Amino acid sequence: MTLTQQIRANFPILGRKVGSRPLVYFDNAATSQRPRCVLEAQQRLSEEHNANIHRAVHTLSYEATEAYEKGRIAVQKFIGAASADQIVLTSGTTMSINLVANCLVRGGFLGEGDAILLTEAEHHSNIVPWQMACQMSGAHLEVVGVAAGRGSENDGSVDMDAYRAALRRGVKMVAIAHVSNILGVENPIREMIAAAHELGIPVLIDGAQGIVHRKVDVQALDCDFYAFSGHKIYAPTGIGVLYGERAWLEKLPPFMGGGDMVGKVSFEKTTYADIPLKFEAGTSNFVAGACLAPALEFAASLRDDAGVQEHERSLIEAMNRTLAAVDGLFLAAGQARERVPLWSFTIEGVHPLDAATLLDKMGFALRSGHMCAEPIVDRIGGGSMLRASLMPYNTQEEVEAFGAALERTIKMLRQ
Ligand SMILES: Cc1ncc(COP(=O)(O)O)c(C=O)c1O
Repeated sequence: MTLTQQIRANFPILGRKVGSRPLVYFDNAATSQRPRCVLEAQQRLSEEHNANIHRAVHTLSYEATEAYEKGRIAVQKFIGAASADQIVLTSGTTMSINLVANCLVRGGFLGEGDAILLTEAEHHSNIVPWQMACQMSGAHLEVVGVAAGRGSENDGSVDMDAYRAALRRGVKMVAIAHVSNILGVENPIREMIAAAHELGIPVLIDGAQGIVHRKVDVQALDCDFYAFSGHKIYAPTGIGVLYGERAWLEKLPPFMGGGDMVGKVSFEKTTYADIPLKFEAGTSNFVAGACLAPALEFAASLRDDAGVQEHERSLIEAMNRTLAAVDGLFLAAGQARERVPLWSFTIEGVHPLDAATLLDKMGFALRSGHMCAEPIVDRIGGGSMLRASLMPYNTQEEVEAFGAALERTIKMLRQ
């Protein structure tokens, strides 16, 4: 068996057809597929250990709690956190960012005249919660541009001079993507965090895409918060992570109130649980949380394998060549020297939605539209783009077939 055959053997869904065509799944940045180890864990946990966690003394509850907490420890190891209690389990990146934005306001850390600094290439999940925080607190957004578009510079880089200058304009919080879900380029987050910290400004990293393709060490990065979603990295939907620097998690107020997040409740006064449970009100998604362990172990085994790294590099080169050969194709951050396997593009005379619909008929699953990042897609893609995003289970043959399918699609659609 070749390396890719070995990887693919873990994913039953990759054997299915769409109509009469074999599935080619290129929408991984939206949701990745789940390997058998995760699917089996989901089944086993549901069949044998289903119970409410952190509450009862009976065996099932104990087993469920233990499995869930193993998920938390797997996250701690995967991102190099100092301690498992700095890992808050949420429903996904969106909830993690909402949690921080909301708690900063309620804790009195944002007020009239303060600014929150974002880049223009953020996902809606890293824009809208901050707009809501601004409405609640009187703060405002500062937005830094990226070099993307049809001009001479289109490498996806953040304008670091503008970033450094903006930091001095009353910024109380920086919130930036590790990798934009449109540009596919890694931001210099280490440098951006250091520049913010020189001025005492905390930084949240939206790691929804970055965690999938880069090794993350939150202590080395020195970020204050790092957020990501399980479903983009082999785990089920409905589970996500918020890593927080201990001092921040301790000083922020709780996000939601309810069961599991309390110390002692009376009608006169309620005390709260220690971190991380202070932020985990209500019954958690125990199966998905527990599945973080097999999912992240699987991810680490691929990430740390030199053969897989080489395979990913050659997929990137093959897709770069394929897209470069298409007449009239504009690639977001097309001049980037390095990218993760994620490409957003438009094709002259072809509407992205029509192209995605036709490609689906040929078996190819691609994303189209504004991809939850309207500001940047409006500016560089006229409001709608196509996106192909790959994982190590994708193959060279799929990329080649995609090139041919794209040419066919263009012939059929170009006006
Ligand atoms: C960069 C980025 N941030 C945030 C999100 C939101 O993730 P979720 O919907 O899992 O909360 C996504 C999802 O596509 C993303 O790509």
